Amino acid sequence: MDTTYLKKFYKKKHDDKINALFLADVISKQEKDVLLNRTLELDSDTANHMIENYIGNYSMPLGVAMNYIIDQEELVVPMAIEEPSVIAASSFAAKIIGSAGGFKTTVTRRMMIGQVTLKAVPNLEVAEQKIKEAKKDILSRANEAHPSIVKRGGGAKNLEVRILTDDTNNNIPTYLSVHVHISTQEAMGANIVNTMMESIAPYLEELTQGKALLRILTNYATECLATSTCVIPAHKLKTGEFSGEEVRDRIIEANQIATIDPYRAVTHNKGIMNGVDAVVLASGNDWRAIEAGVHAYASRSGQYRSLTSWTKNDAGDLVGELTLPLPVGTVGGSISIHPGAKLAHSIMGHPNAPKLERIIVSVGLAQNFAAVRALVTEGIQKGHMGLHARSLAISAGAKGDHIQQVADILKHSKHKNLQRAKNILLNILEEFEK
Ligand code: MEV
Repeated sequence: MDTTYLKKFYKKKHDDKINALFLADVISKQEKDVLLNRTLELDSDTANHMIENYIGNYSMPLGVAMNYIIDQEELVVPMAIEEPSVIAASSFAAKIIGSAGGFKTTVTRRMMIGQVTLKAVPNLEVAEQKIKEAKKDILSRANEAHPSIVKRGGGAKNLEVRILTDDTNNNIPTYLSVHVHISTQEAMGANIVNTMMESIAPYLEELTQGKALLRILTNYATECLATSTCVIPAHKLKTGEFSGEEVRDRIIEANQIATIDPYRAVTHNKGIMNGVDAVVLASGNDWRAIEAGVHAYASRSGQYRSLTSWTKNDAGDLVGELTLPLPVGTVGGSISIHPGAKLAHSIMGHPNAPKLERIIVSVGLAQNFAAVRALVTEGIQKGHMGLHARSLAISAGAKGDHIQQVADILKHSKHKNLQRAKNILLNILEEFEK
């Protein structure tokens, strides 16, 4: 990738942006043509086979975040998102973090977890023991149900048993939950896991004398974690009347508030998910699965808390860290079907699944940094409203060049609302017709 073509990307006109991506070697000639001809569409035949009762496509803007340096590699990150300020904030944060060495990431071994939950087990302890003793047998039965993943080096690798006590009913031990840890390689692997769970359930029933009520993967992917860290020298944080040290300390304190107050933590984490979801969606992955798992992970201490940590090191630098469960895939589902997803993978240089995790968790950290930095300094509305002005202009009916013209006037208006946008557009159109 040659990033010299990507300088001041946001200032370029649409077609120049596409050309720049082509010249920078981010997209191919064919992808360039698709984007220039505005034909990045999910065709209705394919869509009709994807879901039941298909009636049309629901489009979402696809953009690219710039300035990302992740594990010393420069990357352009595709994001599918309707919220106006997200990509600008992402690129801004990545620029500051990039100028300080970028993101460093780690990932755990990727293991998905399948669950068989058994009820009416006559003796839970005895059943637990029997399952542990039959571990090898259970794993090989699971693997027999999906030989192709085993051939590719994956498959069921480990097993755990949990007795579930019912804390809504006097903490009575009630169910037995058998967890199978499964390597699904490049896939998110829901189908692989579910097939395996359904296939081992009768054997588990036999072993435990219970009844398998649920046989499904858990989206709480605690065996598939990705972590991103960044270190930002305080002087890079200086803004307006705030010194770098002040901004650093305010970010650390804001993070602490999100650690102790669930009301703030939800919003804080929503800011992280602005970035995470946008890449998950662009890459054709199941963002509901990621959302569900991430928020459970935020509650792992028993209270819902901030997912990020922001601290100060001995040199006085701001140190950020984010860990997320990210069971994303690079094959399967809509990934090889949806043209937007295919393009997104291509823009990122066809990362494998662990690398996609590294990208997504870094975007989450950047997004949080941008939001909290703005919140503790100038406030969020200045940047937000600047970009929101364009949405208001579009809602007011502005087209083409008029969108930016209305937005520019609106940005400097006292009241930034739809009525004001309509009035501005009216004035512009009257001037135009004169
Ligand atoms: C808005 O989409 C996201 C923020 O609310 C996140 C935050 O408050 O940290 C700005």
